[in-house]
Amino acid sequence: MKTIYLDNGATTMADPKVIEAMKPYFDDKFGNASSTHHKGQEAKMALEEARETIAKSIGARYDEIIFTSGGTESNNFAVKGIAFANKSKGNHIITTKIEHDCILNACKWLETQGFKVTYLDVDKEGFVDPKQVEKAITKQTILVSVIHGNNEIGTIQDIRAIGEVCRKKEIIFHTDACQSYTKTLLDVKKQSLDLVTINSHKIHGPKGVGALYVRKGTKITPLNHGGGHEFALRSGTENVSGIVGFAKAVKIAGSSHIKQMTKMRDYLFENVLKIPDTAVNGSTGDRRLCNNANFSFKYVEGESIGAYLDAKGICSSTGSACSSHTLEPSHVLMALGMDAEDAHGSLRLSISRFTTKEEIDKLIEVLPGIISKLRKMSPLAKSDTKDSADSGGW
Ligand SMILES: Cc1ncc(COP(=O)(O)O)c(C=O)c1O
Repeated sequence: MKTIYLDNGATTMADPKVIEAMKPYFDDKFGNASSTHHKGQEAKMALEEARETIAKSIGARYDEIIFTSGGTESNNFAVKGIAFANKSKGNHIITTKIEHDCILNACKWLETQGFKVTYLDVDKEGFVDPKQVEKAITKQTILVSVIHGNNEIGTIQDIRAIGEVCRKKEIIFHTDACQSYTKTLLDVKKQSLDLVTINSHKIHGPKGVGALYVRKGTKITPLNHGGGHEFALRSGTENVSGIVGFAKAVKIAGSSHIKQMTKMRDYLFENVLKIPDTAVNGSTGDRRLCNNANFSFKYVEGESIGAYLDAKGICSSTGSACSSHTLEPSHVLMALGMDAEDAHGSLRLSISRFTTKEEIDKLIEVLPGIISKLRKMSPLAKSDTKDSADSGGW
């Protein structure tokens, strides 16, 4: 059975060209980028070239890019690093209810360390109102952190407007752009960003590598102390092969891929929404990530849909990969004002530039039957839904 991978929000397949670019840094060019001999300098050159590529892709300077082990580390570094470096100024942080767990849990931990955190509400499509951000700012506020493209519902925040508010109020602004990087505009100057989290494995690069953009002059305390790597902000021998792969993935990503994924996403929406009692979770059009679709199917559980799809070789997800081991309804969907029952009936389908129309057609062929079968078994379903259900071969 051929796998149809529709869980690219969790992670993506490494592009074969990325793997090719990484290979020499495992064998021939294995040097430590801190060594002064030629093997070290060879690695150092590759590291700095990658830094330039990534910096350029978001309108930053090369010395504003700090390589990390991924999105979780970059987000922890941003939130905790700013909190501790700026605590003489204040102890208040503003974030939202729809952040990734690594922001939410870092903030919760900071609350145990004497910091106060405001978790902003979002509207029913998942948007944060920049005016609410402004209203929440107090004399004690030192940081605003708002996710750019949401990992579950695809909503793309107006980070330019939020950035303007923060710049006007002289508050440091961080955005978690793991899902949006290379999929929509991300420009540190145009969007007034002070800190940006990005990672590699969401864009067909290797896992375990990411970066934090830190605007020049931003006061931040390192999490890792050691030999002073990464401008003394993140000690530890750099993952040169991973970083080279990350930069290669950035170079490959292009606007034609955005167009292609948008077309495929819209085809997916158009067809899945033909299933009765199905709703879209999150935003629509340009204000949604080009690779993300998220639906709620009434009277059924997303987990069961996922299991049936998996049996047909189709990978999907309910909520984010990191929290799918809990039985709690998604905090993101609950923040949209959904009830727990509808939130449990949600399914995320996330595509990539490698997703084909044939794969989506296959999904569309099997999904209505799965939903209908599950509704027949569901104690929650209305009897007319059960009667009219067409099991589509299941
Ligand atoms: C929005 C967002 N932030 C952070 C992360 C964590 O990134 P990583 O898996 O690189 O630690 C993810 C990935 O799941 C994500 O989607």
